This record gives sequence, structure tokens and C-alpha cells, in this order.
Amino acid sequence: MFSFMETPFRELIARKRDGGALTPAEWHRVVADAMSARVPDYQLAALLMAAYIRGVTAEETAALTAALAASGEQLAFPDGPYVDKHSTGGVGDVVTLVAVPWAAACGARVPKLSGRGLGHTGGTIDKLSAIPGVTTKLPVRAFKDQVEEVGCAIAEASALAPADKIFYALRDATATVSSRPLIVASILSKKLAGGAPAFVFDVKCGAGAFIPEEEEARALAADLIAGARAHGRRAVAVLSAMDQPLGNSIGNALEVGAAAAALRGEGPADVLDLSFAVAREMLALAGVASGRAGERLLTSQLLNGAAFAQLDEMVRAQGAGEGWLDELPRAEYDEDITAPRAGVITRLDARALAHAAAALGAAREAVDDVIDPAVGVTVHKKVGAAVAAGEKILTLHYNDARRLAAAREWAASAIVVGDAAAPARLIIDVIR
Ligand code: URA
Repeated sequence: MFSFMETPFRELIARKRDGGALTPAEWHRVVADAMSARVPDYQLAALLMAAYIRGVTAEETAALTAALAASGEQLAFPDGPYVDKHSTGGVGDVVTLVAVPWAAACGARVPKLSGRGLGHTGGTIDKLSAIPGVTTKLPVRAFKDQVEEVGCAIAEASALAPADKIFYALRDATATVSSRPLIVASILSKKLAGGAPAFVFDVKCGAGAFIPEEEEARALAADLIAGARAHGRRAVAVLSAMDQPLGNSIGNALEVGAAAAALRGEGPADVLDLSFAVAREMLALAGVASGRAGERLLTSQLLNGAAFAQLDEMVRAQGAGEGWLDELPRAEYDEDITAPRAGVITRLDARALAHAAAALGAAREAVDDVIDPAVGVTVHKKVGAAVAAGEKILTLHYNDARRLAAAREWAASAIVVGDAAAPARLIIDVIR
């Protein structure tokens, strides 16, 4: 199973188990062995567990990142205002659908490669796929041409860093996902393979985030920036709160509608504020405009309709018809969830609401589950809002009544009504 001179895989595991480091060449070999199935899953899983427990140095993380990035197709963009963004995942997180066209309307070029949602957070590809006719499977040539001609494209990253999919599936099955260096290598490898010279990371923390603790999210943001720089890319992170859902819509078609409304300047405020912050950093990294100049450009392109027109142009370039916004699928039935008592909403748990939407069919538990693009949750009242007993807080939009009981339970469990709420946080920091 190994060549004459090659260290047996078992010895790599033993070294990591005992707290040692693998060389860059050894990490490349680990990835190559995973890709060619020369190493059985149990050995790869043992190595990942040893890495999880014993840690991975910055040099090892850089080597693993590069090896994962090199395991598939790698794009490259020439010098110019190219910039990509990445979210660690949230609930109602439409920032990509807002910030990407908004930044492109200001002159940035945005090649955005995204994933499908898995687990409780949604994926941009699933959201875009809710638009009738839209394709997210763009061949590399078409993707690059669209970025040049339209200014932005959002496509599925399926051919990028395929080794990461192998690693991620094993990490998921062996409770080793939450290792910071493994997360950094996983996220960064896909971004590097996407080829942009600059990235804005939207790193979330809070109940609905992949990493709930603020300090750990902050450390992840710093490591993502350092890792990007180690690979010659520019990067900034916006640290944002995901305690309650972002905006008022959870569910794929509902979120597309919400993104379009935000790009027409209709709000909601939290979606616009966070998208503005991310787009501002994108413009600065792309060299289009910084600070106040960038903010003025973003404001004028929102108010004059250019930001919405850019979304419209992008989705039509990817197959949507002229009336796509009116053709978004809608669920057949609604049910309201009301306040159990009068008071102030003190908590609206984003993760529980994601489970409610998933119970209705908005997200997949397993990779090959089929999602219903029309279903989801509308949030009428957010943290800090005063409510009367019996007042509507949420609406569940559903097609299959058999799914309603579980969704109703999750939704009710998300709401806490008390006497006074602490102010809701949103943008916690911008880390450069
Ligand atoms: N997102 C990724 O792409 N990879 C991880 O490991 C965790 C979150």
C-alpha cells in the first residue's frame, strides 16, 4: 500500500497522536492518499482525531490548506477588482445575495462560488435554485465570462477542493468538525481554489451560528485572515451576531424575495446594515473605493436602483425569466405562531427557527434529501419588540401538513417573552 521509501500511514497517525507535526510533503501525501482511496477511512479518521486532540500548527494548516485546494480544479483571475466573500453560515443569511450584486454594481467583480446548505444553516445555491429557470452549475468558462460581462456570478463549487468533501464527511461522522485549524483549511482551500485575490469573511457567532462562542469565532476570523495572507491573498473579516435570524425570512424562495426587497432599499435594517458592512469591505479590498467614498458609492447605487438591477441581470444571465420575482414558488398553507403572553421578546432562537424551517422541508438533513423551495418561516417580531398576548410573532409557510407538528414545536420553543430585552447585537467587529 506504500512505496519503499514512504513512511507508513500508521506512523503519521502515531506522530500526530504523540503531539508531533507532519511536514508539508506529508500533508500533501495524506490528501493524495485520500483522493486515490489509498488510505482506508479508519486511518484517515484516526489521523483527523489525533489532529483534533493534539492540534495542528500554522505551518501544517497552511500545507493542508494548499493540498486540499490543489486536489481539484483551481481558478485564477487576472489583476483587477476581483473579490469573493464567505459566510460561516447563518439563519435567514441573505447577505451573499445582497452584498455580491451590490458590490458589483459599484464596480467590483465578484466570482462567488458557494455550497448547498447542509445542517441547520442555509446555502446560497439552494436559495438561488428556488428561482425558476436559474442554473448554478456554470462551467468554468461561462462562470468567468459572466463575471467579466455582468460583474458577478454565483455558482456551485462542486469541482473545487474535492478532497475537502472527503475530509468533511469523515469529520462530520467522527465529531471532529469543530477543530479550528481543520475548519480554516476546509474553508480556505475552497476560497483559494475559487481564484479571487481577496476575500471578506462574514464570521458569525451566537445561538444560530456554527460556532456559538464569540471568542472562538473571533479566533477563527483571525486565523482565516492569517491563512489567506500566508497564501498571498488579501482578507478582512466582519464578526457578526447570529443570535436571532437575520431579517424576517427563513426558507429558500422567501429569502430570495427578501434579498430583492433589501436591494430595493426596503429593508429590513439588519439585512441592509450587515450587507452594507460586508460590501464596503469588498469594495475596499477590490481597490474600488475605501471608507466614506465606498459608503457613498454603495448608498447611491442602492438608491438609484443599480444594486437591484445588478441582481436582476445576474439571475437572468443564469437562466431566470423576466418576471422571476413574481414567479418565486409560494407555499400553499400558512399557520401563525403567537405570543404566549404580553411583554417583550427577549429571545428568538435562530437555531430553533432553522430547525422549524427544516422540519417544513426547507433544508436537508442528508446530502441527497430533496428540499421544498417554497416553505419556511416569516418573522414578524424580533428581539426587543413589544407584543400583546396572542399577537402574531411568526408565520409557518408549509405544503405538507404532516410536517407541521414538528415545525410548530420548534417554532414555539424559539420564542421567549419577558419583561425587558437586552439590545440585540449585529455587527460586533471588523477584523483586519
Ligand atoms: N464550513 C466549511 O466549509 N468547512 C468546515 O470545516 C466548517 C464550516
